[in-house]
Amino acid sequence: MTTETSTTDSRHRAWSLMAAPVASSGKTQITAVATAVVTDADAAGDEIHASLRSRIQGLRCRNCHRPEAIGPSFVCPACFGPLEVVHDREAIRAQVSRAKIEARAPGIWRYLELLPVDETPARSLAVGSTPLLRADRLAHELGIAPGRLHLKDDTRNPTLSFKDRVVAVAAARAVAFGFDTLACASTGNLAGATAAAAAALGLRAVVFVPADLEPAKIDHALSYGATVVPVRGTYDDINRLSLEIADEEGWAFVNVNLRPFYSEGSKTLAFEVAEQLGWRLPDVLVAPIASGSLFTKVAQGFEDLVAVGLVADKPVRFIGSQAAGCSPVAQAFAEGGDEIRPVRAPDTIVRSLAIGSPADGRYALALARRTGGSVEAVPDEVTASAIRQLGRTEGVFAETAGGVTVAGLEQAVQRGLIGPDDEVVALITGNGVKTPDAKWFGVETGADARGGEATGSGGLASTIEPSYAAFTRAGLAA
Ligand SMILES: Cc1ncc(COP(=O)(O)O)c(C=O)c1O
Repeated sequence: MTTETSTTDSRHRAWSLMAAPVASSGKTQITAVATAVVTDADAAGDEIHASLRSRIQGLRCRNCHRPEAIGPSFVCPACFGPLEVVHDREAIRAQVSRAKIEARAPGIWRYLELLPVDETPARSLAVGSTPLLRADRLAHELGIAPGRLHLKDDTRNPTLSFKDRVVAVAAARAVAFGFDTLACASTGNLAGATAAAAAALGLRAVVFVPADLEPAKIDHALSYGATVVPVRGTYDDINRLSLEIADEEGWAFVNVNLRPFYSEGSKTLAFEVAEQLGWRLPDVLVAPIASGSLFTKVAQGFEDLVAVGLVADKPVRFIGSQAAGCSPVAQAFAEGGDEIRPVRAPDTIVRSLAIGSPADGRYALALARRTGGSVEAVPDEVTASAIRQLGRTEGVFAETAGGVTVAGLEQAVQRGLIGPDDEVVALITGNGVKTPDAKWFGVETGADARGGEATGSGGLASTIEPSYAAFTRAGLAA
């Protein structure tokens, strides 16, 4: 992990450098002690100052580093690079501690000091503090040692995906900026999350989705009273349209003009994982990639924790996973190049990850390379099989992105990128009830085929009469 050098560390180093060359002389020893005393007083003063300082410094371009004021803006006016939030890590270090966080109620706001909001929002859904499950049965099938594989079960958020995290942070900022309409360009899960957050905050919600999206996801957003706009086009078409609407209508698009704040919400996954591991980082983090925001922000979340002194630094390998039918980042990784070639017509059952032109693709690629990880591409049949495997072994029903994650993890183990004793955390980011048919992709239709799972257990049996004789005749007795 890369970390910023803290002022305390550099002061300590300066003190040692001054004292070391003259340690044998009584006179210079006194000088060294005097320096140390002054430095301690300085440190105490600085710490009080840091504890009062604003934690949020502003926005900054990720490419050219030009600073921008905090506001609903997302693109650098100088180089068109993405803007991101700049935190004052010294101030955060002075304001936060493990004990302070642990004493707070569950949910993402327990990490308030690490997030780009000034105070805990008065209203929001109960987002975060999802369980980190020890997944020994899945680990056994994948060839990972007992106790070494953990699943971050984000299927249990209010609208059944991790998108509640990013929306919660963006919505808090939308309220602070005075917007009355919350909107988004969605591949499915974001629509429900935006709709629900808007309902809880009393804002209007308008969500834009591909017209051929899974019906369950459209219905989900509708159930929170949102206006759902089906658009004949891909996610990338919708994203372009949203840029125009955000500009013309002055709406808060959580993943467009509020993107710097939205993306920070994914860091809460990193904070929770580290806290749930006992304030430690894992060896390997496996996550799905669509725009690449989640993947890269989890890494930044780990870096933040190290920088503010909440966890010890250690290398973490980042393994991303995409559906083969829309895998621009995995393709670039496999080819060894830097160019992410957009996928114009995604062709996959994994609709939640179907972004052909990923905004944070090149940062995701660089992260996988820099940390010794990888980006895997998973065929749809394998994704479907992984959804069934996860349900069968661990009792977790994932939507397609979860299947891609488990399958990507398995591929990485098979290719020797993950060893049996590595401590692995896989992010299961969405719930299977939203994509109920996906798990059968590639399986022949009909009750018999569904009953014939590889393990020989489970599956849909034939309909029987309500008698014990019928039950035994169907071969269901133990
Ligand atoms: C369930 C789920 N997981 C993961 C992702 C990937 O998110 P990102 O666009 O931040 O890469 C998405 C994106 O929509 C999603 O719906």
